[in-house]
Amino acid sequence: MNILAPSILSADFANLGEDVAKCADAGAEYIHIDVMDGIFVPSISLGFPVITSLRKVTDKVFDVHLMITDPIRYIERFCKAGADIVTFHVEACSDPAAVIDEIHRCGAKAGITLKPASPLEDILPYLDKVELVLVMSVEPGFGGQEYIPSSTEKIRKLRSIIDERGLSDMDLEVDGGIKLFNVREVLDAGANVIVAGSAVFAGDIAANTASFVEKMCLKQK
Ligand code: DX5
Ligand code: ZN
Repeated sequence: MNILAPSILSADFANLGEDVAKCADAGAEYIHIDVMDGIFVPSISLGFPVITSLRKVTDKVFDVHLMITDPIRYIERFCKAGADIVTFHVEACSDPAAVIDEIHRCGAKAGITLKPASPLEDILPYLDKVELVLVMSVEPGFGGQEYIPSSTEKIRKLRSIIDERGLSDMDLEVDGGIKLFNVREVLDAGANVIVAGSAVFAGDIAANTASFVEKMCLKQK
């Protein structure tokens, strides 16, 4: 089952609740929430109060992407704020297994991710412990960048490893530079969760979401 996860980083923060409701109503199953600390990545985005407030406007799955250093410090608070899936960067911590355990202890699903330049091998030891793996197809930190073409091969490789290991419930998510024109390439490589920020929130949010959903469902026919 393919899932669209609009990234609210490109939303109008003055109308966040309405913008999120629009994509939820138009068929987005996950809401992708990018948390940045100004250290792991140059930007600072949003934190707990925003997630707590958004939790009141939708019951869609909150897919929280932590771009923060030493994430274990904050897992409990993100879960209490309403995160359903918490994804962290393997480069941001010294003990990824402990972070995964902490996410599970707090009742959320765990996701692991890596920067485009990091080798896939860095996350492979943890694949059997997580529910989601995220391939970053841009350098984390900003919306609106271009998809890095070599990501497609990385997705393909990861999909074959996931299949070989029989991890059939695992989400393979891809984040960065995904538009209507290249979403098929990403799905065909083996992804099932698509993050799209600028392509959803620039212009007519409901229509953009519906276009993605239509295009992504066509694959299943
Ligand atoms: C980048 C974020 C992405 C970003 C995607 O660090 O993780 O989720 O918002 O935005 P687009 O789809 O515009 O590349
Ligand atoms: Zn993200």
